[in-house]
Amino acid sequence: MKELVMSREEIEEACIRIGTSLNERLKNEERLPVFICVMKGAMNFISDLIKHIESDILVDYIKISSYEGDKTSGHITLKQDISINLDSRSVVIVEDIIDTGLSMKYLIDHIKEKYSPKQIIVATLLDKACARKIPVQIDYVGKTLNENKFVVGYGLDYKELHRNNPYIYVPTKEEVEKMDIEVAK
Ligand code: IMP
Ligand code: MG
Repeated sequence: MKELVMSREEIEEACIRIGTSLNERLKNEERLPVFICVMKGAMNFISDLIKHIESDILVDYIKISSYEGDKTSGHITLKQDISINLDSRSVVIVEDIIDTGLSMKYLIDHIKEKYSPKQIIVATLLDKACARKIPVQIDYVGKTLNENKFVVGYGLDYKELHRNNPYIYVPTKEEVEKMDIEVAK
């Protein structure tokens, strides 16, 4: 039996709940809001979330990296930048999981340094609140994790594997060992 963290149904419920709140919040926008996918982990979440957004929006992505295997390196590298001008727009940063908070702080600082957005809104599917190293802005959370466990599935990976699972779970030690062999091939 897998140690499930979020089932398909729970994920869908979270997308509906967060989407409904965002619809209310993004009702009267002068410029089109931009939803930013933090690649690659948030790819599944953003695609399901935006299906519930009723107004016109723009979608863009940013690629950063901090994790090496199942450990955060603490050092964030920008791999691919945003390409839409975010000045005067509401910006919704869509993230898979907030762990230490370092990535989200980097993203918010980066956006504020380059642009003058109307507002920045943070939506994360998972919040590993117990692992936080620095306080960080979060507006919408799918689910809060009370234990500091490494999770995979629905975009979240271990060495690029398991992004394709439709649910999120905690891989066993044996599964992690199997993945290590797989990626070494
Ligand atoms: P932070 O900078 O420590 O908050 O880490 C955030 C990033 O690390 C997330 O965007 C994820 O991509 C990745 N990450 C953190 N925890 C996990 C996990 O349990 N499984 C997979 N990726 C994770
Ligand atoms: Mg991520």
